[in-house]
Amino acid sequence: MSKTLGSARIRVMVIIASTRPGRLGPAVADWFVDVSRESAEHANAVLDVADLAEVGLPLLDEPEHPSSGRYVHEHTKAWSRRVAAADAFVVVTPEYNYAMPAALKNAIDFLYQEWAWKPVGFVSYGNTSAGTRGVQMTKQVVTTLKMVPIGATVALRIADSVENGIVRANESAVESARDVMLEVTRVAEALRPLREQGTGADLPDPQPSSDVRASTTIGEPPVPGLVLAAMRDSDWAELLVLQRCCWVQEALSNDTLDLPALHETVADVAAWDRTWQVWCVRREGRLVAAVRARAEGTVWEIGRLMVAPDLAGQGIGRWLLDYAERQAPQRTTTWSVFTGQRSDRNIALYKSVGYTVTRGPAPEGAVALTKSA
Ligand SMILES: Cc1cc2nc3c(=O)[nH]c(=O)nc-3n(C[C@H](O)[C@H](O)[C@H](O)COP(=O)(O)O)c2cc1C
Repeated sequence: MSKTLGSARIRVMVIIASTRPGRLGPAVADWFVDVSRESAEHANAVLDVADLAEVGLPLLDEPEHPSSGRYVHEHTKAWSRRVAAADAFVVVTPEYNYAMPAALKNAIDFLYQEWAWKPVGFVSYGNTSAGTRGVQMTKQVVTTLKMVPIGATVALRIADSVENGIVRANESAVESARDVMLEVTRVAEALRPLREQGTGADLPDPQPSSDVRASTTIGEPPVPGLVLAAMRDSDWAELLVLQRCCWVQEALSNDTLDLPALHETVADVAAWDRTWQVWCVRREGRLVAAVRARAEGTVWEIGRLMVAPDLAGQGIGRWLLDYAERQAPQRTTTWSVFTGQRSDRNIALYKSVGYTVTRGPAPEGAVALTKSA
């Protein structure tokens, strides 16, 4: 697949399925990553190697069905975030007693919607059958999660391909590995609309930290087809464009161009992640709203609440603000927002949901509004 200028990169998660001491899995994964690297670059893909031994999930210990997206354990939330961020998977797996390793089944069972509409390829290894029976079983499992197994595959017979723990596979296996990478990224690209065009009800709530003070479920979206998710790096550029559009109105209302949101770059937006939690809302693939929040002691600061101008007035801002408020940690005593002194529309929105203008410190030309818990 040729690169498209500006297209979002495909994130391929390479899952190492075996976890036992002395396993061959990491050596097979190293070989696959090494021989398919050029194909990944050609396909504009970035790789995330997830070694299930390091991921360290216990046996499934969540009380609710994963389709609810309501997870109580931090290990599940971390796994959820990581899998949700992937666009495609390559599973590097042996077969154990003609089946997939229990660790792989367990890691799959932990989640639900995070897997949906994403292709999966396999690099199997084993004795006579080269792990292929385990792969067949895994294919049956993943289709129930709306994952899409691809046709290209690598199947290594250990006796032919491994010497002293190092994989030395033949040229045909190397070709197959490249085919897996190319096919998985092509299918990931083709499935992108399905991943992005789900409805809010289709997708899990983004996973907040474990000590949020309120219910973390998303309220009923005011407009059909809104998909709320934590910011991903593929959102940065579009988020910057949306922010500029939205802050032009701020500039007009406040009669100044001296607004940081108008001057930020993609790198600035990318850096938000370090100090803020950021959520984006898409509709039919288009980024239409966003918000960010962070804790400062007992204050939960909410900022950069933005809604595409053509969708203003439909309740999206209020809905997103409500979601951001609910993500506050338990210790929160005050919610805080800033807006332009003359941003009447924003001030009216905040007041309508209980905020009042305070004398607290605010950037020049801005006004602070707070709400008590
Ligand atoms: C519990 C267990 C069951 C196995 N069952 C099979 C099998 O059904 N078919 C096969 O080809 N190899 C089987 N093997 C041999 C594995 O292919 C070989 O040990 C391989 O290195 C396992 O992958 P790992 O080292 O990453 O754990 C089995 C190995 C183990 C430990």
